[in-house]
Amino acid sequence: MAQRVLLITGGAGFIGSHVVKLFVNRYSNYQIINFDKLTYAGNLQNLTDIDGKSNYQFIKGDIASESDVNNVFEQYPIDGIIHLAAESHVDRSITDPMAFIRTNIVGTTVLLNTARKYWKENYVGKLFYHISTDEVYGSLGAHGFFTEETPYDPRSPYSASKAASDHLVRAYYHTYGLPTVISNCSNNYGPNQFPEKLIPLSINNIKNKKPIPIYGKGENIRDWLFVGDHAAAIDLIFHKGKPGSTYNIGGNNEWKNIDLIRLLCRIMDKKLSQPQGESEKLITFVKDRAGHDLRYAIDSSKIQSELGWKPSLTFDIGLEKTVDWYLANQAWLNAVVSGDYQKYYEQQYSKRE
Ligand code: NAD
Ligand code: TYD
Repeated sequence: MAQRVLLITGGAGFIGSHVVKLFVNRYSNYQIINFDKLTYAGNLQNLTDIDGKSNYQFIKGDIASESDVNNVFEQYPIDGIIHLAAESHVDRSITDPMAFIRTNIVGTTVLLNTARKYWKENYVGKLFYHISTDEVYGSLGAHGFFTEETPYDPRSPYSASKAASDHLVRAYYHTYGLPTVISNCSNNYGPNQFPEKLIPLSINNIKNKKPIPIYGKGENIRDWLFVGDHAAAIDLIFHKGKPGSTYNIGGNNEWKNIDLIRLLCRIMDKKLSQPQGESEKLITFVKDRAGHDLRYAIDSSKIQSELGWKPSLTFDIGLEKTVDWYLANQAWLNAVVSGDYQKYYEQQYSKRE
């Protein structure tokens, strides 16, 4: 297989670290550059497995800084970009939208401009792959699924900033001929997810016998996918996706939040060797998220039929694997919930009581 030099942005985050590890381990002939600002969500502890591998390099930098991004393109003959760096948490976007505008919109545009500048319209063998979310499609009622043709209708500052970045990526494809591809994925879960998102936050709270905060009545529905299955889809799309295309990725695995949390409680009781029903006592209904989208559900038939991808794990197994990982990686969890996390938790959750 050809030699390649890939820039992966956001590779110290949750999904990015799984993608970086997959590419470094599977493609020894690729040089993988992980470019990450190391915000609160970026953690080099996610990457200790590949420390010291000769085809891996970490560079600390900000995608919204032209000079940081230029420096990487000056140093390396990059021919592929997998762009995951983003501000990614809806609740934070409600509190501080500007950080989302800067990284998700300005940062993506800086990357697009820099790729254009360095590739100089010599686009053979080049690809700019933008990782996005199903949240750009808005909120579903009880029926129907998001397809690649669903009109955009983002409703939070997070999803609006991701939608803007998707539009810019498509604009660069149509206007400048930059070879781009986009995928929009449903909610991910698995090892290394920062405990501000529903599943790891609940695991951490159950372990510490703290209330499990359920927004509203817990009726909102999400379509959950194991992070390793998302990384496998990204690998396929990067190598076989058609430039100019969009692929929806989903788990075909819809859960009401309250049902998901009850399943998680049963798994936690078993793993902590405590009587069934113990964790459920911690469930606490709190003030709803502003503008809370009711339901997300992905129709992933395009990637299934065109590229032969499908989710590999059932939710029971994926969730159990996730719980096992968090219980076995106490030091990782302790490190990320120290310091600023306590302040964040206090800010977000005291106002919901
Ligand atoms: P994350 O918050 O765990 O990680 C984001 C990473 O980006 C961190 O390492 C952070 O340090 C880095 N980063 C943030 N701002 C940066 C900047 N200005 N310059 C360079 N690096 C910066 O996010 P995640 O959950 O791994 O999501 C990764 C991507 O996948 C995002 O684009 C997100 O929109 C998308 N996505 C996430 C999900 C999900 O369920 N988590 C689902 C679908 C799509
Ligand atoms: P989250 O993990 O933040 O992902 P997203 O908002 O991107 O879907 O939330 C998943 C669902 O869980 C969403 O409906 C909001 C809800 N939720 C809670 O009920 N309590 C919480 O403490 C959090 C973080 C989320």
